[in-house]
Formats: sequence, structure tokens, C-alpha cells
Amino acid sequence: MQTTPRRVTIQTLRQMKERGERIAMLTAYDATFARLLDEAGADVLLVGDSLGMVVQGHETTLPVTLDEIAYHCRAVARGARRAHVVGDMPFMSYQASIEQGMTSAGKLMKEGNCHSVKLEGGAVHAELVSRLVGAGIPVMGHIGLTPQSFHQLGGFKVQGRDPGGRERLLADARTLEEAGAYAIVLEAIPADIAREISAAVSVPTIGIGAGAGCDGQVLVVYDMLGMDESFKPRFVRRYETLGATIKGAVAHYVADVRSGAFPSDAESFTVAENKAAPAHVE
Ligand code: KIV
Repeated sequence: MQTTPRRVTIQTLRQMKERGERIAMLTAYDATFARLLDEAGADVLLVGDSLGMVVQGHETTLPVTLDEIAYHCRAVARGARRAHVVGDMPFMSYQASIEQGMTSAGKLMKEGNCHSVKLEGGAVHAELVSRLVGAGIPVMGHIGLTPQSFHQLGGFKVQGRDPGGRERLLADARTLEEAGAYAIVLEAIPADIAREISAAVSVPTIGIGAGAGCDGQVLVVYDMLGMDESFKPRFVRRYETLGATIKGAVAHYVADVRSGAFPSDAESFTVAENKAAPAHVE
């Protein structure tokens, strides 16, 4: 009999930091990937607004809507049995007002079936974080390179190198912790600053392009699986080259269809079999 694994909670993640166990987080956008990543041991699955780029083909994450994130959250939540599922609050679903942020987060929890939400920005969103936590919605913060501010930042650039950058990031992390965030993503910041922040706050930090001193790591799953051969930023480690593998498999299929090698008799049904026992497509 298959037993249901114990769900990773925000308390589990806190305990992992206390025990010095690193947290493995990945993005996921559909139920099949969620099942595979969950079974392989990922602790946290983020339904990231990165789906705007890797699933929808946009240049940035800005066009992604709340309804789209909720839709993908529902799929991921159906596939994940153990992992904690985080719904990413998309651009302009929380920046306009506290009320807007509360309503948007509520929608991801109620309709997306996720276990927490993530939002970009530090001290500027402290009040919203505190209100969400007060309403029972766990919040993951996200500082450093915040892709929703692409145009404000002038592109996807490493953050925190300017004078005062270290202090600002540290202050943002501390403010998010005080506001009640249960974890903080540190994106594209120098490794020594990320290490300092991770030591300064009691909540887990999850790094992406932020070095080995964080309490956990996150990557966009399509990047670490090498789905796009042309995209290889420094912070991504490719564990597979699935883009090339998929293209090879599809080219093989196309050739088999064209030559008539697919399907074979064994891959087809006969009337006789149907009479003996009702045909099952599997
Ligand atoms: O949208 C996303 O995938 C993210 C991660 C890269 C942290 O925010």
C-alpha cells in the first residue's frame, strides 16, 4: 500500500534551517512535473511567474496574470504530495494597495490550492506581509534582483554591488523577517552578502545566483534540465540537456511516422482481442 508522505510545511523549513539541512526548491508549472519533482525529493515547488518566460514565451514576467498563476497552482497542487507549494504573486496583483494584495493572495490560496504565496520586494511591502500573515497566509519574500522591476532595474542585473547595497539588502531581509515572512528568496546578489543575510535572519534564505551560503537553493526547472540550449547564465547548473533529448526523440518519431515504422502491429488493436476481452487502451 502506498503511504502519503508527510507534507513539508513552513515549520519543516524552519527546522531544516535550524538543523543546517539545505532546502531544495524548484519551479513547477504543471501536475506531471510537480509529481516528478516531488517524487525526486524537492522540498518546495514554486509556481513562479517565470512561467511567463519559459511556458508562455514572453521576454519578461510582467504580462503574467493572477488567473494564470492560479490555474498553474491548481495543476501543481494536484501533482505534489509531499512538497510545499508556493504561488507567486504576479506583477501588479499586490503593488496597488494592501487590499489588492490581500485579495490576490486569498485567490491563490483558495482557488490555486497553494500553501503559501511569494511576493517581490523588501521593506516597501512589510505592512502587506504582516497583514497576510495575520490572515493566516504564509509569505515568502524575494529581494535582490526582482524581475517584476525589470524596467526599473534596467534589466536582469546583479544587485547589491552599489554603495549601500549590502546595508539595504540586510535591512530588507530583517524587515521581512520582522513582518512575519517564513522564508526569503535572495536573487542575483554577491555570495558574501547572501551569506551575511542568511546568518543575520532566523528564517531560511533560498538563493538563486546568490552563492552557497544560503539555507537553500532554487532554480527554474526548465533551466536546470537544459530545455533551452541557448540559455545558460552563470548561476544555472544544467543537470540534463533535455532540449536536445526531446528534439532527438521527436525527430525519431517524425521519421517513423513518415516511413510507416510507427505504429507496429503490437501497438495496434485487433477485432479478435476485443471479442476475447474488452479492449483496454493501456
Ligand atoms: O518566478 C520565479 O521562477 C522565481 C524564482 C526564480 C525565484 O521567482
